[in-house]
Amino acid sequence: MVNKITVVGAGNVGATAAQRIAEKELARTVVMVDVADGIPQGKGLDQWESAPIELFDSRVVGTTGYEETAGSDIVVITAGIARKPGMSRDDLLNTNAGIVKSVAEQVAKTSPNAILIIVSNPLDVMCYVAMKASGFPRERVIGMAGVLDTARYRSFLAMELDVSVRDIQAMVLGGHGDTMVPLISYTTVSGIPITQLMSKGKLDPIVDRARNGGAEIVKYLKTGSAYYAPSSGAVQMVEAIVRDQKRILPCSAWLQGEYGMKDVYLGVPIKLGRKGMEQIIEVSLTADERAALEKSAQAVREPMAVVKL
Ligand code: NAI
Ligand code: 2OP
Repeated sequence: MVNKITVVGAGNVGATAAQRIAEKELARTVVMVDVADGIPQGKGLDQWESAPIELFDSRVVGTTGYEETAGSDIVVITAGIARKPGMSRDDLLNTNAGIVKSVAEQVAKTSPNAILIIVSNPLDVMCYVAMKASGFPRERVIGMAGVLDTARYRSFLAMELDVSVRDIQAMVLGGHGDTMVPLISYTTVSGIPITQLMSKGKLDPIVDRARNGGAEIVKYLKTGSAYYAPSSGAVQMVEAIVRDQKRILPCSAWLQGEYGMKDVYLGVPIKLGRKGMEQIIEVSLTADERAALEKSAQAVREPMAVVKL
C-alpha cells in the first residue's frame, strides 16, 4: 500500500475508481477531488461508511481543493465533461484540455513526485496536455485506454468461445478511438492462436464490437458513458504501480522513436511498476497492423496539433 492516492473528478469513473482503490487497500488515504462542491465530500463519506462492511482500512475523503491531496503517490485524472448538443469535437477537446491542464498544474505543485494516470477524453491528447502542464517526465504520465479496450475484446471473445476470461490473452494498441488496433496475431487462448479456434468470419465482428465498445454502452445509457470497466482499467494500472508488479499492459505512452514514431501519445505495451512506465515493449507487427498503428497515430496527431495548451 502507498500513503496517498488522489482521484480527480468524482463522477462516474472517478468515484467508482476511488471505491475500487479503497476496497483493494492500495493506499492509506484515497482523496477524491471535484469542482462540484458536496459531491466529492458526500461520495467520499458514503464510501468510507462502507468500510466496516467491506472490511477495508483505506480512508476515503472528498474535497474541492488540493491541500488534502498534497504528497500523493499516484493521481488518477478523470475530470472533464461529455460532449453536449451543439458542441463540436474541437469545443470538447479544448474544454477538457483546459480542465486537464489546470488539474495537472495544481497536482504538479502539490504532488511533484506523483505518477499521473490519465482517463479524461480524448485520451491520448489529454495525456499530452497533462505531460506539458505538469512538466513531469513521460515515465510518470500514462494513459488508460488500452487496458479497457483489451478487456472489452477479451470479454467478447470469452463469450463467443464459452471459455474463462482468464484464458484469453490479447492486446489492443493505438489511440483510444475508432482507429484502435486489436492485434489478432497476439490473441491467444491459453497460448492457442485465436485463428485456430475461430474463423475470420466470426472474429471480424468481435474486433469491430471491441472498437465500438464505448459507443455501444453510450447507446444504452443515453446520458453518460461506461464507467465500471473503465474504472477497473484505471485501477489495474494503479495496482501494478503500487504493488510494483511489472505488469505488461497496453497503455498510452509518449513515444520517442519506439515503433518508428516520435512525439505522440499512443497505446503500446509497457511495463508498469513502482517507478511508473519502466519500459516500452516493441513487438513485431504484421504489415497490416503496422499500417493500422500509423493511421491511429495520425488520428491522435491531428487534434494534438490544434489543442490549446
Ligand atoms: P462524469 O461527468 O460522470 O464525471 C466527470 C467529473 O469531472 C464531474 O463530476 C465534474 O464535476 C468533474 N470535473 C469537471 N471539471 C473539473 C475540474 N476542473 N476539476 C475537478 N473535477 C472536475 O464523467 P465520467 O463518466 O466519470 O468520465 C470522466 C472522463 O473520462 C470523461 O472525459 C470520459 O470521456 C472519460 N472516459 C475515458 C475512458 C478511457 O478509456 N480513457 C473511459 C471512460 C470515460
Ligand atoms: C469508453 O470507451 C467513453 O472512452 C469511453 O467507454
